[in-house]
Amino acid sequence: MKEVPLIPADHWFFRNSLVVLKDPLAFFVSTFEEYGDIYNVNSNLYTIYVTANPEHIQEIMVTNKTDYAKSDDYKILKYSLGNGLLTSEGDFWKKQRRIAQPAFHKGSMKKLLDIMIDSTQKTVDHWKQKKQVQLTDEMSLLALDIVTKCLFGTELETDYVKIQEAVTVENEYLAERIMKPFKPPFWVPTSKNRAYRKSRAYSSSLILGIIKERQENPSEHNDLLSMLMSAEDEDTGEKMSNKQLKDESITIFVAGHETTANALSWTFYLLSQHPEKMQLLQDEIERVLQGSNPDFQSLKELSYTQMVLEESMRLYPPAWTVVRKVAQDTNMKGYDFKKDTRLILDVFMLHRHPDYWENPTAFQPERFEPEEKKKRHKYAYIPFGAGQRMCIGNNFAMMEMKIVLVMLLQNFKISLAKDAPEVVPEPLITLRPKNGVLMDLRPL
Ligand code: HEM
Repeated sequence: MKEVPLIPADHWFFRNSLVVLKDPLAFFVSTFEEYGDIYNVNSNLYTIYVTANPEHIQEIMVTNKTDYAKSDDYKILKYSLGNGLLTSEGDFWKKQRRIAQPAFHKGSMKKLLDIMIDSTQKTVDHWKQKKQVQLTDEMSLLALDIVTKCLFGTELETDYVKIQEAVTVENEYLAERIMKPFKPPFWVPTSKNRAYRKSRAYSSSLILGIIKERQENPSEHNDLLSMLMSAEDEDTGEKMSNKQLKDESITIFVAGHETTANALSWTFYLLSQHPEKMQLLQDEIERVLQGSNPDFQSLKELSYTQMVLEESMRLYPPAWTVVRKVAQDTNMKGYDFKKDTRLILDVFMLHRHPDYWENPTAFQPERFEPEEKKKRHKYAYIPFGAGQRMCIGNNFAMMEMKIVLVMLLQNFKISLAKDAPEVVPEPLITLRPKNGVLMDLRPL
């Protein structure tokens, strides 16, 4: 029997809880270097194991998945997301995933292409009046615009600005509750709790209103909501209830923009630091698109663009940890895992594990050539998670990121501003560039 190495305590009472909370990324990086790819954090609150080993990831997410469940952090998300895809479990989740899956198939994504292009074009037009942009803010606004229009259609201008505002308040509130566990309970009438509850009631009623309106006046809509509304369970023919449609809509909204915005910000930053890779990318964009907008076919041909995005999410995975708990006593590759132990799958270090990645900190999109991919362990790279709970929006996200990347590079030379603050990762729920990424723009 193997023992998960216990990290020495930093403090006699808190042990390592405070150092981890203070800067989890620095803790994970240094502990990996010193103790290897699996260890016990030595927290005073619960038993927490961290792993960055692909064999372990495969065991936990795929081979022996029934011994693991989503961690309690997901219960906090349930305040807003209800029983949506990200937070639900068991047979209920399975049924929902089956019903929702067709809305995310490649064929359905085709219907969303024009929305993504139109939103990006608006950003291009807006940037034409600018010399410098705070890229992280711009990418957030753009990703928010895209996910809202892809969900609810393009004809709701006023409603969706309100939904965006309300859901953003909810998202920030819940993220803070997860990152800082010592907060007054949800029911205490603090000003933040009240603002949160108000936004939640507001977004719920607005989204339910949109759903009812569509049921009363059915007409053709090319958006995710209509795909979800018409989707039926293949076996039972059952459709989603209105409450469920609302939960799934908010889930997609929340899961579908911050991650994409962060990945795009990191990609532009990495390209600005590697002009030779930027040149290869620009050559491909010119060769494949010859100045026109991307379409479904040309997106497939943009293979170097795809590799650049993949390599960017390797170095800076937006979902930089995935968390689980042990659902019943089990054995994981020779280690005994007790029920309720928390598990952090350290995607950041998995993607930089020196046994699986040569020269792991270098930006080399060529690692994602099909032949290179085949040589690697399947679970050494999991930006979208793994196994049955893998991101349902991965095709959506890849299509969106490609469109945004190529359309902006068709129109601007984008370089890091001379006076930009240092770009370093900030490990919140997603991995974002702390202090933003200030970029200079030159129209092409
Ligand atoms: C670069 C962008 C994105 C990244 C890195 C990302 C990452 C992830 C990861 C790692 C998971 C698995 C979480 C877990 O196992 O605990 C996940 C799940 C999920 N993502 Fe994404 N995501 C992205 C974009 C999107 C988009 C655009 C949407 C929707 C339009 C979306 C919707 C979802 C949903 C609904 C789930 C839950 C799936 C389930 O459990 O059945 N994501 N995502």
